[in-house]
Amino acid sequence: MSTPLSLTSNFFFFIFTATVLYIAYTIPKQEPNQTNLVFYVHDYFSGVDASAITVAGKSGPTSHILHFGTIAAVDDPVTEGPTIESNEIGRAQGLYINSQLDGKGLHMAFSVIFTDGEFKGSTLEIQGADIFSMKEREFGVVSGTGYFRFVKGYGIMETEFMDIANLRAVIKLNVTVKHY
Ligand SMILES: *[C@@H]1O[C@H](CO)[C@@H](O)[C@H](O)[C@H]1NC(C)=O
Repeated sequence: MSTPLSLTSNFFFFIFTATVLYIAYTIPKQEPNQTNLVFYVHDYFSGVDASAITVAGKSGPTSHILHFGTIAAVDDPVTEGPTIESNEIGRAQGLYINSQLDGKGLHMAFSVIFTDGEFKGSTLEIQGADIFSMKEREFGVVSGTGYFRFVKGYGIMETEFMDIANLRAVIKLNVTVKHY
């Protein structure tokens, strides 16, 4: 007497479907992990410890970094704390290009290469605008390697110290990334 359309099998089919849907919707979705880290970048265009040089621009390789069009290569120390004496945990290597007509904004594209500490052997890829006259500016974290594979995020940059005449600055970077 039982056919697939019988009341009983329809009823069990309904219960089965409802159960499957219920389970599917109540399994907690895996939230991406989040990592927050704060570090300091020492960006010195002058001095015996200079770690940034201009390489091209309107008036050649010696163009001023605060003039539109100037490109700089950087290999800046990255430390745990705000002073250069604090533990060096990596290097910020890449480039800045002055990309604002009035000279007051940089575009940055660099890797933070961790050489010590919790994230030793991993890198973060940072890209974004640095309107350095602002107290806080936000930038994007586009990717990473090692511990930071597949990450995406953002960071907030703050000038900790600035000697504009000698082009020496210490920048605090506060990065938040999500791992997928
Ligand atoms: C880092 O930034 C987050 C917001 O993204 C903020 O909640 C946190 O207090 C900041 N940490 C430090 C040490 O500045």
